[in-house]
Amino acid sequence: MIRTLKVAASLAVLAFATAGHAQTDRPWMNTKLSPDERAALLEKELTLDERIGLVHGPMSMPIFGIKKPEGAIGSAGYIPGIPRLGVPAVNESDASLGVTNPLNVRPGDGATALPSGLSLAATFNTKLAYEGGAVVGREARAKGFNVQLAGGVNLARDPRNGRNFEYLGEDPWLAGNLAGASIKGIQDQGVVSTVKHFSLNGQETHRHFANSVIDEAAHRESDLLAFQIAIEKGQPGSVMCAYNLVNGDYSCGNTHLLNDVLKRDWGYKGWVMSDWGAVQATDYILKGLDQQSGEQLDAQVWFGEPLKAAVEKGEVPAARLADASRRILRSMFAAGLFDKPVAPGGAIDYDAGAAVARAAATEGVVLLKNRPGLLPLAKTAKSIAVIGGHADAGVLSGGGSSQVAPPGGAKTIIPLGGEGMMGPFRSQYFNGSSPLAAIRKVAPDAKVSFDDGRYIASAVAAAKAADIVVVFGNQWMGEGEDAADLSLPDGQDALIAAVTAANPNAIVVLQTGGPVSMPWLSQAGAVVEAWYSGANGGEAIADVLFGEVDASGRLPMTFPASIDQYPRAALPGLGLPDKTQFDVVYSEGADVGYRRFAQTGAKPLFPFGYGLSYTTFAYANLKVTGGQTLDVSFDVTNTGQRPGKDAPQVYLTGAAGKTVQRLIGFDKIELKPGETRRVTLTADPRVLGQFDAKANRWALTGGDYQVAVGASSADLTLKGAAKVKARTLKP
Ligand code: BGC
Repeated sequence: MIRTLKVAASLAVLAFATAGHAQTDRPWMNTKLSPDERAALLEKELTLDERIGLVHGPMSMPIFGIKKPEGAIGSAGYIPGIPRLGVPAVNESDASLGVTNPLNVRPGDGATALPSGLSLAATFNTKLAYEGGAVVGREARAKGFNVQLAGGVNLARDPRNGRNFEYLGEDPWLAGNLAGASIKGIQDQGVVSTVKHFSLNGQETHRHFANSVIDEAAHRESDLLAFQIAIEKGQPGSVMCAYNLVNGDYSCGNTHLLNDVLKRDWGYKGWVMSDWGAVQATDYILKGLDQQSGEQLDAQVWFGEPLKAAVEKGEVPAARLADASRRILRSMFAAGLFDKPVAPGGAIDYDAGAAVARAAATEGVVLLKNRPGLLPLAKTAKSIAVIGGHADAGVLSGGGSSQVAPPGGAKTIIPLGGEGMMGPFRSQYFNGSSPLAAIRKVAPDAKVSFDDGRYIASAVAAAKAADIVVVFGNQWMGEGEDAADLSLPDGQDALIAAVTAANPNAIVVLQTGGPVSMPWLSQAGAVVEAWYSGANGGEAIADVLFGEVDASGRLPMTFPASIDQYPRAALPGLGLPDKTQFDVVYSEGADVGYRRFAQTGAKPLFPFGYGLSYTTFAYANLKVTGGQTLDVSFDVTNTGQRPGKDAPQVYLTGAAGKTVQRLIGFDKIELKPGETRRVTLTADPRVLGQFDAKANRWALTGGDYQVAVGASSADLTLKGAAKVKARTLKP
């Protein structure tokens, strides 16, 4: 005991001495100062070469013959530290869905795979978003990563977008809030998070040559609003600009986006890093870019020697380089990278991570159709035929930079082949959380068979022989490519049509990266959308099918009846020769997804916000108060026989004489049978107003505002109104 005390005493002396040293030699280590003050003090000490060293960095994965840089842990990117001043090296890893291990650069190192972004968005649950972020942040930290390339919040403007699965759906309020919560979860672990890809990276087809064209006000009210909310709620240390052009200028060299909107209007204090291979010139630094990432993918290391020369010649003011360096350091201080440095080799509780992944995946499952009495399945079911989707091997995940390998490695990897930048990433990963095994576990007395679904005749025979059928429909989506249409690939629609025709008790489980068409829908007994469900997806699917939990997911994207219901029925750029610039005209403006459906009156297959539950909910006693904004409250009652979770949604339906439809609030609540809870929320005035591009301000027209509470964007039951005062707000 005495010895321990002595050690403790000498450690205290050491800590005191270090603190003293910090106060004098390294005043920026004084934790009483603000991150701004600390960054300013440190930045002053940097040499020109040290500043240049901070503003660019290589990839840290072995790809295209490139070697992992010396000193890097190995993942997406690396910025060497400055030991003389105690600046830690920056090790960057992807993404929102877990800590990645691209091309197995850290041999055998897995991580907790969270469900896809769309699955998270389907939970309508900001608490789960935070908890998921915290898992990612904890694991990043334990593996030695201090920057997590997370926070994907591009709005889903096209159901075919190959990266919709990484993002959070089509609504700025939903996506912005969930992204903000997830970013906060990551950063609370002492790891910087990004928010990405700024902005309008709305499709993957020829993403380096797509020019997103949009009206300024519409942009502010949609994709930019999602970013703005995510930044306000999550305070990400960095913003990653995108591959595409926006209104004629590349996003990473877009002075309007970076200097005017982000840094001036929003007062953003962190740094802008480029996407990997998204920098075309040195003068991007003048246009607001602070750091060139993944530099080997660019034609030159623009922010290396060329930038140094430009500063020396006075073409780039030294003050601008200092500002970029200060921004990087500021975010590093703010997230705690100096005070609590990360180190690889930390212990990781993967069971705890998997439990969060399972909770999120379960709440993300959306019950789209249910013939009364079919679901939830009785555990006494005698025989169940599970068909297709590699359901024996695990659940599917999306491809590209966000792909997470589970601890111990994926159970099954099916290479798809392919060339180009994303070629090495084109494989389907199945993680080992097998829905087949999970179903067997929940229903131990049932005879559960598996047919791989390759031959329709054998699948039909299996379906006919069983009481219940669970047939899977998989759609692999990946970064760098879009789905060519909304069908399930590899003939699975024909398989499902045959199986659902053979047995009326067939339940279709979809594992997709976004909306798909369902030509067999009328025949299916039940349909659930399970998305890419992560580490414990198999268990989550079984839990919902057997009613261990309520089905409480709601669609964060409209499922269209056909692609013709969208403004761009032909995928822009598809078939063009590479390196040809083309316009993607976002003529829907801010009316993305359900908002445009509300205008055109087209009937989707399933509307935004839709999802069935195993119980029923009723809404009553709506109170709407006006003034500077709208305060809305109402009662939600579980009117059914089972406990359940509801995601009540509040929509604006009219604003001072204008018909609109916008989600202005949502909640996720759990209710016992017969229980009533009051939901209360205050609308953010920006979702009530419009952006006045000329005045560069948000504007609310004074007048009557109508709201409706509903179970989806197309099922509005309670209606109310109140007067809102005319006002304008800062951009
Ligand atoms: C993706 C980014 C990712 C980066 C680093 C790019 O291909 O677009 O989302 O963070 O690679 O891996």
